[in-house]
Amino acid sequence: MKELTMYKKKITHLLPRICPILLFLARVINATWWLLGMTTTYEKVLQLNSTTYQNFCKNLHYLVEKQQDLCGLNHNVLITVGQGAKMGIKECQYQFRTNRWNCSTFNGIPNVFGEVLNVNSREKAFVFSISAAGVAYSITKACSTGALVDCGCDPHIRARDTKGRWEWGGCSDDIKHGSIFAKDFVDSGEDRDSPDGLMNIHNNRAGRKALRKNLEVLCKCHGVSGSCSVKVCWRRLKPFRFVGDWLSKRYDGATHVKTVQKRRKLRLRPFKNYIKQPSKKDLVYFDESPDYCNRNDALGMLGTVGRLCNQSSYGVDGCRLMCCGRGYQTVLRHVEEKCKCKFKWCCKVLCEKCRYIREDHYCN
Ligand SMILES: *[C@@H]1O[C@H](CO)[C@@H](O)[C@H](O)[C@H]1NC(C)=O
Ligand SMILES: *[C@@H]1O[C@H](CO)[C@@H](O)[C@H](O)[C@H]1NC(C)=O
Repeated sequence: MKELTMYKKKITHLLPRICPILLFLARVINATWWLLGMTTTYEKVLQLNSTTYQNFCKNLHYLVEKQQDLCGLNHNVLITVGQGAKMGIKECQYQFRTNRWNCSTFNGIPNVFGEVLNVNSREKAFVFSISAAGVAYSITKACSTGALVDCGCDPHIRARDTKGRWEWGGCSDDIKHGSIFAKDFVDSGEDRDSPDGLMNIHNNRAGRKALRKNLEVLCKCHGVSGSCSVKVCWRRLKPFRFVGDWLSKRYDGATHVKTVQKRRKLRLRPFKNYIKQPSKKDLVYFDESPDYCNRNDALGMLGTVGRLCNQSSYGVDGCRLMCCGRGYQTVLRHVEEKCKCKFKWCCKVLCEKCRYIREDHYCN
């Protein structure tokens, strides 16, 4: 709330200047369904009941009509999409925790991340992909657990040949269903005939594709005294962190692209002709990123003043890059920790208390 009031104050000052920009932005950034993942909205969603959620969906002006329809299908759909958005935002903040832009969000503004995502940067590409993946993941899991009624476990996997090594059993995650729903919901706000829409649709798909790369097969043995004469296996999604790590690598290797007209249709092509054509799994972007060094309230950029940095790193988390050359301050902290723990028969663990001084470094 504090953030919101601060933002409002700033906005009223800037309004005459940024009004034309806002009108422009309203057209550009339309993935405002992210709001469903913000704690304030999500808590409201949880309080709805089977009669009130439909009206709620109809009145969510930040959803496009198709999204309102999908939202109104079932209260659990709304909750599940909200969870997916939340997962995406949280994972983005985890993956960017040591970057200059740390995926900061603002309560109460429609596009959640601020106007910083008006730049078609690789950060924008990551946010779209991870949130699309979040929704696909969340829907898939809700199908497996039975929280959603018109879907369930993967009905096709049992037809797959295992060369006699195991039998399919249990409940395999149906990522196909989850992905189709996520595509319907997430992509419906995008315009395939505009460059921005094309970029977003590509990155949303890359996010959904990441699920397929993060599946694991789990097995259980049956048989006399653990002989494993019958092995029953099922396939499920790895924890969402794996999807985040995977997409984070795609972010590092994202492809700079431009649009071209081909047979009257807009297409994405590498920005320079020596770059290879991005695959469906790659993230794509049009614009170089801002440096994110300085605070810019109109764009929702916090800057890196006061950020924790790592003195011994030469990477983006290192003080040199994180602080944009402004230098940093070192704060000494007295820390007390359990240490030299010994196991004492039986059954205690005895520890000593160790005191030491820790150095933390913060950007100027
Ligand atoms: C749902 O909530 C509304 C308002 O909070 C209440 O009037 C209504 O009786 C509730 N309906 C059910 C089925 O619980
Ligand atoms: C991001 O950095 C800002 C300081 O620039 C800090 O206030 C905020 O808590 C950080 N957010 C996250 C999610 O780490």
